[in-house]
Amino acid sequence: MSSIVFSNIGELTTNDPSVGDGSVLGRIHDAALVIDDGYVVWAGATKDAPAADTEIDVEGVAIIPGFVDSHTHLVFAGERSEEFAARMAGETYDGGGIMNTVTATRSASTDELRQSTQRRLDSLRANGVTTVEMKSGYELTLEGEVRLAQIASEFTEETTFLGAHVVPAEYRQNRDAYVALVAGEMLDQCAPLVRWADVFCDQGAFSVEEAHLILARAKDKGLELRLHGNQLGHTGGIALAVELDAASVDHCTYVSDVDIEALSGSHTVATLLPGAEFSTKSEYPSGRLLLDAGVSVALATDCNPGTSYVTNMSFIIAVAVREMGFSVDEALYATTMGGAQALRRSDIGHLRLGAKADLAILNVPKAAHFAYQPGASLVQAVHRGGESPDFWG
Ligand code: NIG
Ligand code: FE
Repeated sequence: MSSIVFSNIGELTTNDPSVGDGSVLGRIHDAALVIDDGYVVWAGATKDAPAADTEIDVEGVAIIPGFVDSHTHLVFAGERSEEFAARMAGETYDGGGIMNTVTATRSASTDELRQSTQRRLDSLRANGVTTVEMKSGYELTLEGEVRLAQIASEFTEETTFLGAHVVPAEYRQNRDAYVALVAGEMLDQCAPLVRWADVFCDQGAFSVEEAHLILARAKDKGLELRLHGNQLGHTGGIALAVELDAASVDHCTYVSDVDIEALSGSHTVATLLPGAEFSTKSEYPSGRLLLDAGVSVALATDCNPGTSYVTNMSFIIAVAVREMGFSVDEALYATTMGGAQALRRSDIGHLRLGAKADLAILNVPKAAHFAYQPGASLVQAVHRGGESPDFWG
């Protein structure tokens, strides 16, 4: 592959504090960025840029590291817009609708699932996402969870086993048997297809004890851990995630002072998913409290048909800034570096020397427009490791 220089970048966000304005976002104005063989090899002022095989003059627009969407449930069938409407009219979310998606997904063909996953991925990518995590969790049978993990693995390396999403209807009278299945045969068969294990540890889903059992077994099988925690109450998920050194605990809608203290002394990222509070008409968590305590924070779409049918990170940034106490720059950092930290990846989420050249070229001069022009299409092109944007392996 040949080298490319992007020149006349109005505002380049590198997330490299050693360059540019010295902030954590490492901003350079009137910048150039050189990539070679899919990696960043130079960043600085356009006037100092070295020659490359190809020059792309971006004429003053902004470039950012590609968004890292560290939490999605992209592989599913059906839709639940009626539940959404009912919540807007005052109904509360208790996870009950998950079985509606399970029913639709079980009866979908593998090709249908592949095609709808691809469509959602196309939308995320068109809006600047270059890495996406994808979970199983909408079949809740041995063969079904293997099928969803297999489909996810065709799109991303960041695959997650979520057999413990809810206890399916056929096991309601015998939940211990379902937990044993998830922690046994289902995990054994999904493990070769996934990097991560996750559990929905919350009211109406799995208890801390059940989640502990499943995740400890997953760790023994060589999987890394993440956790849905504290979405519906103070349910102990955050403490469990920190105890198990999970890479991330996701939702954190309910956070106590003790949780914040535990997170701030840990390697566990707090991943906030404001699409879920939006779509369940719940209170947003305070990003400000977590950021001020020095907790590593990520923001992600949580794209799923029940609580957050969001495929545009711009919406997440806008809500985080308007409702959750983030500055625009903090929200941008949480959707790039934060997402990478939540996936324990050091090669993405930034454009430091040696980083993967995953980036989004905007059609506006400043990344702040993600919050300032909510809902607009602000990405004109995405490069992933310098490869064609159609490559998602
Ligand atoms: O992240 N909280 C659990 N899982 C999903 C919602 C799943 C659904 O309602 O279909 C979430 O919000
Ligand atoms: Fe989720």
